[in-house]
Amino acid sequence: MDISSKSIQLLLTGFLFISSIYSLTLKTEDVIFEEGDTIIVNCTYDKDGQEEILDRGIRWQKQTDDYFKDIALFSPPNGRGPFIVKGMQSLYSNRTELIAPNISLSAVLIVKHPLCGDQGLYRCWIEYYPWVSFNMHVQTSGSDVKFKSKPKIPEEFHFFPKELEENQSIILLCGANVGSPLGNIEIWKIPQYNNTPVLIQELNVTTNKTENCTEFINVNFTYNVTRDDNGAVFRCSSQNNLTQGPGPYKESPKMFVIYGPDKPVITLTPFKSFYFVGDYLTIQCTTDSNPPPVFTWKFHPHNKSLETVIKTSSDVSKLVYDTLKTTDSGTYSCTATNAATLNSVNVTSSVFLYVNHSEIGYQGCNQCGYLTVCQQYDGKTVCVTNKWIPIAIVFILISVSFAASSIVLIKNKSASQNDGGYQAHTEIVNTHVYSALQSHKPE
Ligand SMILES: *[C@@H]1O[C@H](CO)[C@@H](O)[C@H](O)[C@H]1NC(C)=O
Ligand SMILES: *[C@@H]1O[C@H](CO)[C@@H](O)[C@H](O)[C@H]1NC(C)=O
Ligand SMILES: *[C@@H]1O[C@H](CO)[C@@H](O)[C@H](O)[C@H]1NC(C)=O
Ligand SMILES: *[C@@H]1O[C@H](CO)[C@@H](O)[C@H](O)[C@H]1NC(C)=O
Ligand SMILES: *[C@@H]1O[C@H](CO)[C@@H](O)[C@H](O)[C@H]1NC(C)=O
Ligand SMILES: *[C@@H]1O[C@H](CO)[C@@H](O)[C@H](O)[C@H]1NC(C)=O
Ligand SMILES: *[C@@H]1O[C@H](CO)[C@@H](O)[C@H](O)[C@H]1NC(C)=O
Ligand SMILES: *[C@@H]1O[C@H](CO)[C@@H](O)[C@H](O)[C@H]1NC(C)=O
Ligand SMILES: *[C@@H]1O[C@H](CO)[C@@H](O)[C@H](O)[C@H]1NC(C)=O
Ligand SMILES: *[C@@H]1O[C@H](CO)[C@@H](O)[C@H](O)[C@H]1NC(C)=O
Ligand SMILES: *[C@@H]1O[C@H](CO)[C@@H](O)[C@H](O)[C@H]1NC(C)=O
Ligand SMILES: *[C@@H]1O[C@H](CO)[C@@H](O)[C@H](O)[C@H]1NC(C)=O
Repeated sequence: MDISSKSIQLLLTGFLFISSIYSLTLKTEDVIFEEGDTIIVNCTYDKDGQEEILDRGIRWQKQTDDYFKDIALFSPPNGRGPFIVKGMQSLYSNRTELIAPNISLSAVLIVKHPLCGDQGLYRCWIEYYPWVSFNMHVQTSGSDVKFKSKPKIPEEFHFFPKELEENQSIILLCGANVGSPLGNIEIWKIPQYNNTPVLIQELNVTTNKTENCTEFINVNFTYNVTRDDNGAVFRCSSQNNLTQGPGPYKESPKMFVIYGPDKPVITLTPFKSFYFVGDYLTIQCTTDSNPPPVFTWKFHPHNKSLETVIKTSSDVSKLVYDTLKTTDSGTYSCTATNAATLNSVNVTSSVFLYVNHSEIGYQGCNQCGYLTVCQQYDGKTVCVTNKWIPIAIVFILISVSFAASSIVLIKNKSASQNDGGYQAHTEIVNTHVYSALQSHKPE
């Protein structure tokens, strides 16, 4: 206990003693400068009354390679004036201001119109006697000087050619001031139906310019286009370590990629193994092409070796049949053409269609009685009751009843006329009788 507490006491006094003899403190700060700024490296020291700094014992140095070279020497207040060391005069004299410590204990190096090479690690170096009887001691403190500059929007960005066919290549040119540090240019592609940019090229700064810290990067990039790139927009962005993600950018106009037509695909709707007279059918031709394809239909009737007809329809991609006939049998060819590539080989697809007479259907039709109608569909025969038959029956019945009633009426009419005559006759007879009676009465 005793020993250890004593040793701690010793250590503490020793530490206090040492720290009191080396109590001079330096304060420097890192500097980030931008375009148009001046670099100000400021070394502020604090010392106690015992400590003595020699005349020209304060220096600003800069790291070159592995060691620090003096730039300027300063004296404590009331000492000799500050100056730039001989070897550095050509580099600094014209654009450097030195402020020696006065009341404010700061040795300041001000570099105007900084160059890119002014970046780097600077060091404030102070040589002093900590205590009258002690040896010289040196205290240092560093200032990291860095240039920063925001990336600028690309000055030029374009690609050529503007129109091209798939699998050909375009050249993208982008030039931008990417600022500093660690600037780069990125080329992005934004697909037509998806707004997420896709990074396709990145070009980093490879050399440091000495005269101007801002980096200007030119990209000359060759890109092979696919048909999916049709309608895509390219973007060139300029960024550096100061930007979070992509920096300011410029976009290209939309790219137009000519492609196709591919070999057309012919679809039959409904799709069946056999088609029969009376079926409906849509024959459709589809293919992928940009600009959109132009279709031409050709029909070669079955059994007629020479005749070929060009079929037209309002929707050129389709041929529509409401009721197939046997004469619709034959080969249908669809040719797709791309207006932009007329000289390339036209692509054609064909389909053979045979429209059957249904044998079963004809036999079946004989089975349909007089009150049913024979309908053929899908090779089957259906005897459908004719909806006009009941109506006809009703009409016939109405007509018959009308005729019958007319006959009855006519018969009645003629019958009543005969009866009238008889009555008249009887009346006459009766009158006659009566008169006879009467004539008899007076008698
Ligand atoms: C240097 O730094 C000190 C302490 O921070 C400050 O008081 C002084 O004004 C600075 N000098 C210059 C020229 O900036
Ligand atoms: C200092 O600047 C003057 C004019 O601005 C120029 O003529 C001279 O060469 C420069 N000196 C050095 C050492 O750069
Ligand atoms: C100390 O230096 C600063 C900076 O140059 C100056 O503004 C100030 O007047 C000086 N003070 C004295 C007492 O010389
Ligand atoms: C373009 O390349 C794709 C994939 O290699 C190929 O399928 C297509 O036929 C090519 N197109 C042309 C016009 O050469
Ligand atoms: C460019 O720099 C970034 C970040 O330092 C790095 O991730 C990338 O691989 C570099 N690209 C090239 C092509 O050098
Ligand atoms: C560019 O400058 C920075 C800072 O001065 C340095 O660290 C880096 O190594 C330099 N790069 C090249 C390629 O010279
Ligand atoms: C330095 O940068 C500025 C601003 O971007 C530019 O106007 C100037 O031309 C550049 N100087 C050199 C030598 O590149
Ligand atoms: C881009 O590069 C190609 C080949 O690499 C070259 O023919 C063309 O002239 C370059 N264009 C520019 C503007 O540098
Ligand atoms: C682009 O196409 C050319 C030839 O057409 C080929 O040599 C090159 O490798 C392709 N580039 C890429 C990135 O696919
Ligand atoms: C780049 O930025 C990151 C954080 O934003 C930082 O950690 C890194 O040190 C920076 N690099 C340089 C060379 O400035
Ligand atoms: C027409 O085709 C049918 C069957 O395919 C065949 O039986 C008939 O002989 C052909 N008629 C002619 C004139 O070629
Ligand atoms: C392709 O079809 C178009 C239109 O029918 C025609 O003008 C062109 O000559 C055809 N091209 C070839 C190579 O047959």
